[in-house]
Amino acid sequence: MITEAQKDLIKGTIPVLKEHGVALTSHFYKRMFTHNPELKHIFNMGNQQNARQQTALATAVLAYAEHIDNPSVLLSAVKHIGQKHSSLNIRPEHYQIVGKHLLASIQEVLGDAASDELIEAWKVAYFQLADLMIGVEKEMYDQMIQHDGGWTGWKPFNVVKVVAETAEIQSIYLEPTDGGKLPVHTPGQYVSVRVFLPELHLYQPRQYSLSDASNGKYLRISVKKEAVEGKPDGMVSNYIHQYFQVGKQLELTAPTGSFNLVENEHPHIFISGGVGQTPLIAMLEHLVSREGQNTITWIHGCRNNDLHAFKDRIQVLESQYPNITCFSFYDEAQPINNGAIPGWVDLAKIDSDHLPQQANYYLCGPAGFIEKHFQYLTGQGIDASNIHFEEFGPASLQLN
Ligand code: HEM
Repeated sequence: MITEAQKDLIKGTIPVLKEHGVALTSHFYKRMFTHNPELKHIFNMGNQQNARQQTALATAVLAYAEHIDNPSVLLSAVKHIGQKHSSLNIRPEHYQIVGKHLLASIQEVLGDAASDELIEAWKVAYFQLADLMIGVEKEMYDQMIQHDGGWTGWKPFNVVKVVAETAEIQSIYLEPTDGGKLPVHTPGQYVSVRVFLPELHLYQPRQYSLSDASNGKYLRISVKKEAVEGKPDGMVSNYIHQYFQVGKQLELTAPTGSFNLVENEHPHIFISGGVGQTPLIAMLEHLVSREGQNTITWIHGCRNNDLHAFKDRIQVLESQYPNITCFSFYDEAQPINNGAIPGWVDLAKIDSDHLPQQANYYLCGPAGFIEKHFQYLTGQGIDASNIHFEEFGPASLQLN
């Protein structure tokens, strides 16, 4: 148990963490990857390069120090992180390694300012948090195998079909190589995929939303080829596009994530930017397959008609189901715009009948996209609790 004196010591480090949090976690990652290079197979080395993961961990450590008197307020954040961790097959023993390097890093970065008592206080605090997280993640692993067809860890899948949705986005249909069942997933969930990158001599995991409703036959992911070549981020998606043709195998962890449809009679409003539409497509397909009666507004923005993925499918659904209304925004001017509104997604250009007060809103895209539309919607009086969102990459909004 952490003592009151130890809590005070931890609170005393908040100003240092605020100032040097990212430096501390950068030092920590460098140290950990030097001593335990096998962990490079687990972390997204692209996020390491752009410091997003350092910031995510620093923010989490800071939030923990600030709430040391009552860490239970962090439970929803811990659950969100736990989903990411369990999707990456993070196990209790990994917490020992992280703990060892984190404590050594605090000592090394603070130097003489790190008394034995302070390090001991952080040790107790870290393992208290680790125990909380390990417990939450154990429940998640237990849940994964409770589903019929569920599994934990990495499982090989056959690529059975590849569809080029656009020049940039490819859908990959996957079936378990063991011929086993698929667990039911909720629309909006994601899987981690890992590929061995020959250039890096490393496995690299990435999360992709499942882009189709649960159907018992296949799992589908839709991968955008990232333009940034030569960086691990672009490397994984480019490699998937080039190499993962029919007949190849990909390793996946079980579906997870809490970006889910709200089950009520209110309208569903889907707002996506670019490849952010993938989890929303799964939700839409799910609603259509169940012949739900909810009114649906589908708002999507992309660069132009050629790069508009799932355009044909959305048009078919709009013509078949009178309760669906679709709006597209293209920010690059071009001759064919298929009725799309020119420019970035601008909700002010949509009739307010399609953006009702009492509705379930779902946003998916980059952080700036979510922030912009979240602000707009709450500015229109829509209750923040009715706005659900999923951001690409490590979440920066969750702990603020
Ligand atoms: C108390 C300890 C820990 C804290 C506070 C923590 C915190 C976080 C946070 C805030 C994220 C970002 C979540 C998101 O993407 O939304 C994250 C992701 C991640 N964590 Fe942890 N974590 C801890 C322990 C661990 C351990 C033990 C491992 C395994 C060695 C680990 C590996 C990862 C990985 C691989 C990611 C995904 C980011 C990437 O791919 O680079 N974490 N963690």
